Amino acid sequence: MDVVELLGEIAEIGRDPVRGGYSRHVYEPAELELREWFRRKSAGLGLEVETDRNGNIWAHWGPVGTGTIAIGSHLDSVPGGGAYDGPLGVASSLAAVSALMDEGFVPAQPVTVAAFGEEEGSRFGIACLGSKLMAGAIPGATVAALTDDTGVTYAEACRADGIDPAGLGRDDERLASLGAFVELHVEQGVGLADLDSPVAVASSILAHGRWKLVFSGEGNHAGATRMRDRRDPVAAMAAAVLAAQRIASAHDGPDSARATIGRLTPIPGGTNVIASRVDAWLDVRGDTDPQTRALLEEILEASHAAAKEHGCGLEVTEESYVSTVHFDANLRERLVEALDGVPVLATGAGHDAGILAAEIPTAMLFTRNPTGVSHSPHETASDEDCRAGARALTEVVRILASEPR
Ligand code: GLV
Ligand code: MN
Ligand code: MN
Repeated sequence: MDVVELLGEIAEIGRDPVRGGYSRHVYEPAELELREWFRRKSAGLGLEVETDRNGNIWAHWGPVGTGTIAIGSHLDSVPGGGAYDGPLGVASSLAAVSALMDEGFVPAQPVTVAAFGEEEGSRFGIACLGSKLMAGAIPGATVAALTDDTGVTYAEACRADGIDPAGLGRDDERLASLGAFVELHVEQGVGLADLDSPVAVASSILAHGRWKLVFSGEGNHAGATRMRDRRDPVAAMAAAVLAAQRIASAHDGPDSARATIGRLTPIPGGTNVIASRVDAWLDVRGDTDPQTRALLEEILEASHAAAKEHGCGLEVTEESYVSTVHFDANLRERLVEALDGVPVLATGAGHDAGILAAEIPTAMLFTRNPTGVSHSPHETASDEDCRAGARALTEVVRILASEPR
């Protein structure tokens, strides 16, 4: 199996004619089709396919047992995302297993390829749901009750892939079976382009969280309401967006400080209607927990001031938070050594490997992205680099699965 050919097989699945790129949201038809594709390809390699009770799919090479080396990533995307974020890791994993099988390699440890569910949080709002459920980082009942934009609950949606919502929750048995997890991912930055290297090993992930901001004002007529009589939540929200941008920019220098409002919904949303409410989602990231929390506090203070200035209310809810992740140093060094001293890079993007890092040794490989653009239809990686990434993952599995633990 060739990683580029594998990506070619799914290139038409989930294309978004409006946004461009791909919209492959968990348990919606495109993502279900990708799940079936992954199951079919895995079965074709002779792997034993299993869907766990948290909606993650596993393709086992060898009997499941302790010390299993897991590789893989996710198949879902952000709205209008690129072709590589997620599927590159899954396709590279299948290619790596296939290459080792072709060589006649016999793993001393079981190897498994994982496809995690709802990594982006594009449908139910919280990222890395599959890995968080498995690690018990979020209660199953909380996830079951999450709703998408149309009011469908996670509990209803997951049945589309045969998942019983009653089973959602920490999976001690599976966690105990895993010796390590290595996720290959397209780089989401220009670190490798700058270093002129096709592959890197990850060092850390920024602390990051999501907050829902609900600005409430007074719905009214766009023509009949004098400007001075308005309580317009869109105006308040706009001031908050600019404040977030200004505050994070002031901190984003020697420190990493990121603040984004990329999703907002005015209600009711009419051209000639002053909205009565705006729902906005704030994504804040930083080097450490104290730095991230301090940045958030500053942004929220400015947002409350903006709401007050426009006669509006503001309610803030923390939807998710993940502390800074430092990947397992020992595993990282073994990967760097196995790959002849490839560069080590930090990232600002969240990953299932970051969630599982709290439970088992995890590591990541990055494949060069020449423009650094990600979460966009313009995300890219060359065929040559995709193959270099898959070869690197092959070497990593060869080394990790050769050593009895
Ligand atoms: C996931 O890609 C994230 O960093 O939000
Ligand atoms: Mn992503
Ligand atoms: Mn991803």
